[in-house]
Amino acid sequence: MTNSKSVLIAAFISTMTMSASCGGDEIEAPCGEEAVAEAAPAAEKTEASPTPAAEGTSWTTMDEATLAKYGERVFLAKGSNTCNDCHGKDGIKGRLEQAANLTKPETWRVFQATGGDPVKADLALTYLIANGGKKFNESYVSDTAEAGWDWSKTDATAFDIQMFGVTQSSTKAEIKKIRKDLKKQGVALEKDDMTNFGTKAVIAYLRSIAVE
Ligand code: HEC
Repeated sequence: MTNSKSVLIAAFISTMTMSASCGGDEIEAPCGEEAVAEAAPAAEKTEASPTPAAEGTSWTTMDEATLAKYGERVFLAKGSNTCNDCHGKDGIKGRLEQAANLTKPETWRVFQATGGDPVKADLALTYLIANGGKKFNESYVSDTAEAGWDWSKTDATAFDIQMFGVTQSSTKAEIKKIRKDLKKQGVALEKDDMTNFGTKAVIAYLRSIAVE
């Protein structure tokens, strides 16, 4: 487990790199390993002056920084039983004492139960946030051949079913609002892709608040 934290961070960086620079509009944008060093400044630039989306763009081409901005809206959705209500508006010290510290990914069960494998941890995290703890407990391992999930590596045998993820109604309502805003900008988000979008966006936001 010594290297586990850097493995997770490396996974975050590689995801960021793929969506931020590689194969984008900038002809000079480097791909692969060289792109890692470039990824952070590129993301900052986008945040400072967001490029208006071209007509007919799909949300799936959104860069990491833009996705994280929408993820922040999902996270901060108003109402009780939203991410910020249970976890705290900064991802710590929310209403529920047992809710994970969202600034410390290496303490999460998705990380521990997969032995820190970044791909498996990300797969489990995506499922958990999209479906909530109850569905995760019932279906994740049986539905996912490549889960590589081992509860015995954690101090639990199931997720607390209060972990709702984006399934909760105020959170869904915020994603709906975002969909409308995107539409005005000519960015397509299909109705049946809203959960997927909300999940990806909020995970991008979580990456941005993770501290070492
Ligand atoms: C009603 C309360 C509640 C809501 C809403 C909620 N969570 Fe959680 N969340 C929890 C609890 C409780 C846990 C701890 C579960 C456990 O370890 O058994 C948790 C755990 C987590 C974890 C750690 C997972 C792991 O592997 O240990 C992440 C990440 C997370 N939540 C993100 C989110 C995000 C993002 C949202 C909003 C889309 C959200 N949560 C909404 C209560 C909530």
